[in-house]
Amino acid sequence: MRALQLASDSVPMLSFVDVAEPAPQPNEAVISVCAASINYGDAGYLEPGAGIVKIGGYDGSGVVLRAAVDGSGPGVGTRVAFLTPNGTWAERCAVRSSDLAELPASVSFVDAAALPAAGLTALGALDEVARGSRSDGPDGLDGRHVTVLGATSGVGQLAVQLAVLRGASVTAVVRDLTRTEHLAELGASETVGADDEWAFGTDVVVDLVGGPLLERAVSTLRPRAHVLAIGNASHRASTIDFEQLRRNAPGSRFVAYTRTDTSAPDLERLLGLVEDGALVVPVGWSGSWEDAATALQLVSERRVVGKAVLEIPTA
Ligand SMILES: NC(=O)c1ccc[n+]([C@@H]2O[C@H](COP(=O)([O-])OP(=O)(O)OC[C@H]3O[C@@H](n4cnc5c(N)ncnc54)[C@H](OP(=O)(O)O)[C@@H]3O)[C@@H](O)[C@H]2O)c1
Repeated sequence: MRALQLASDSVPMLSFVDVAEPAPQPNEAVISVCAASINYGDAGYLEPGAGIVKIGGYDGSGVVLRAAVDGSGPGVGTRVAFLTPNGTWAERCAVRSSDLAELPASVSFVDAAALPAAGLTALGALDEVARGSRSDGPDGLDGRHVTVLGATSGVGQLAVQLAVLRGASVTAVVRDLTRTEHLAELGASETVGADDEWAFGTDVVVDLVGGPLLERAVSTLRPRAHVLAIGNASHRASTIDFEQLRRNAPGSRFVAYTRTDTSAPDLERLLGLVEDGALVVPVGWSGSWEDAATALQLVSERRVVGKAVLEIPTA
């Protein structure tokens, strides 16, 4: 079958290859992949000399071609979305049946493929606030102020919407104010530039950027705030004065958040919100996987607002 391979030591890093058909474990189904998305991490952190050769992609959508032989999971012909380490930029992919979320009929393969990594990350990180603030209300976000750093990103746009759905008011912080008009439509109460004057105090910071931007956001924290450090798109370190923080925002918590599971139930929660029209999937680029090199370049240069999705024809 055809697949798109990333090889850190080759020029170009991305190429089509012929690889063996997937050999599923008893608890894995074989999926005919229809769409798969690109994450900045697919190539943005791939250094020449790293010796990495792999089929790209972690998230995808498609149709069950062969159900798991242990009888678990959805049957042949079911439309599904998934997050998997097995490489989704391929015509077919073996995926643990417990990681398969069934697609509502109204959700397209393209939208479904953009959702797993970004959506599960945004949802899981906001769930951390609920876990850390049980005494503050039903899920810790109702009536509180959330600041999203890097709100134009895939994770950022989903975090804005999920926080608003839980009753928070959201300030979206962006680097480039010229491509942000849609953030108000997604529910952000205000959009501010990374270099503007900020006049807000915040209860929750969702940080996708790090560096000096995170330092600024920490200076806006209210008491008992939460900082969800999810990404470091700036590739820069932050210096935090914890003594100052103790005085200004006593009881605040930092979570170095990494999504470690591939939860199908959480993915089904997100797909349900998309079906209901409550969640807009931030797809900034979609097109044939024949144009994958262009798409990867655009993502690496951060020229896609939201997610880039490759459409894979059925072989
Ligand atoms: N912890 C986890 O489990 C997890 C999971 C998924 C992703 N991540 C991480 O989360 C981050 C966001 O992921 P994504 O796929 O949503 O990323 P993305 O779509 O590539 O977006 C990156 C965001 O960071 C902003 N940005 C980049 N450099 C900046 C700078 N120097 N100053 C201000 N803003 C800057 C970009 O703004 P522009 O629009 O202006 O370019 C954009 O909003 C990445 O670092 C990724 O590695 C972590």
